[in-house]
Amino acid sequence: MTVELRAVTEADLPFLFEVQSGREGQWMAAFTDPRTASDLDAYLLKWRRLLADDTVVARAVVAGGEIVGSVGCFEMDGETEVTYWIREDRWGRGLATAALSALLTEVTTRPLYGRAAADNAGSVKVLERNGFVAVGEDEGYAEARGAVTRELVFRLEAAG
Ligand SMILES: CC(C)(COP(=O)(O)OP(=O)(O)OC[C@H]1O[C@@H](n2cnc3c(N)ncnc32)[C@H](O)[C@@H]1OP(=O)(O)O)[C@@H](O)C(=O)NCCC(=O)NCCS
Repeated sequence: MTVELRAVTEADLPFLFEVQSGREGQWMAAFTDPRTASDLDAYLLKWRRLLADDTVVARAVVAGGEIVGSVGCFEMDGETEVTYWIREDRWGRGLATAALSALLTEVTTRPLYGRAAADNAGSVKVLERNGFVAVGEDEGYAEARGAVTRELVFRLEAAG
């Protein structure tokens, strides 16, 4: 599956809100802010902050000429962490795997980190197929599930 990445723009945000507010995706991602999943204004406010932040990389994933999701990375407690989200009707076609692979050629920071709820099998595959290795686990309250949830922590080292 071939994808291209381009910068997320303000015009993409209503579409990305639709993609990211789906119930199943919210459950999978688990550690999300329910307010930005249900309230477009809150979502726009958050994204405008992200787009203005030089430490945040936010890319639209384009396949077959249309936007199918987003991929990016951000800094958290001194570590750079990747994140991705694909529209639900395109899951299982290799898009997230290809999008993360493309991001890894653009973002050369290493190590990189990724986190996934332990039962988010799709996301775990996406990380492992891109060379991330599970290095630990965490547990926290996942707002989107209303439950304490186990999370796996992955790291990608510099090649070689
Ligand atoms: C996780 C997510 C990004 C995967 O996107 P995708 O484009 O479907 O990913 P890919 O097709 O590249 O790879 C996913 C793999 O996991 C598999 N998979 C997906 N859901 C699965 C599940 N519930 N159980 C087992 N395998 C699953 C897919 O079949 C695919 O494997 P395959 O190629 O062997 O068939 C997408 O489901 C999504 O956006 N989810 C909501 C947001 C999210 O969870 N983001 C990550 C936060 S950590």
